[in-house]
Amino acid sequence: MAHDGAPATNLLGLEEQAEFLPLATRFFRDEDRLPAENFISSDFMNRENARLRALEGKIDIVQLSLILHLWNWDGQVEACKRIIELLRPAKGSMIVGQSVGHLDGVEAPGRPGTIVFKHNAETFLKMWRQTEKETGTEWDVQASLDEGLGAAEQNGRWDGPRAKRLVFTCVRL
Ligand SMILES: C[S@@+](CC[C@H](N)C(=O)[O-])C[C@H]1O[C@@H](n2cnc3c(N)ncnc32)[C@H](O)[C@@H]1O
Repeated sequence: MAHDGAPATNLLGLEEQAEFLPLATRFFRDEDRLPAENFISSDFMNRENARLRALEGKIDIVQLSLILHLWNWDGQVEACKRIIELLRPAKGSMIVGQSVGHLDGVEAPGRPGTIVFKHNAETFLKMWRQTEKETGTEWDVQASLDEGLGAAEQNGRWDGPRAKRLVFTCVRL
């Protein structure tokens, strides 16, 4: 987004594993445009982190890149509720993102000892309808499966013949 001209002062990055942040800066060599203060190291579900608490209700757009599929159905509903807390409670607030998807919308083994949910467009919409009900909010949800982000190559251990990428946009009504 910074490369496309979005003002760096309006951009924040969030990553749970602190050691990834300096690695990313070294990789992209963009410290002059995106200073370290723009990045927060925290579990975004952490409601005790002071920087995250200060952001609650103030974010306009959340880009959820390849993260939602780390949880099972209930975990994803809780993650979506947390993102709704962080977003400005106003028409037009937006979530955009990608996840590992699946033609059938299925539970699957994740990291050792975990079960995750890989959505198709229908199951993603159903999960959002539940989230809307539990938060008293309404969203225009658009989702589709495609072959992007490595799905066509099927190189990931999370991929398989019916794996796809889910691309989604949720706009608050
Ligand atoms: C599959 S990687 C995706 C990385 C990057 N967003 C991308 O699109 O290439 C998922 C990332 O989410 C981070 N992560 C997982 N759970 C998180 C949480 N609860 N809060 C913040 N970051 C989390 C992981 O540490 C990991 O770096």
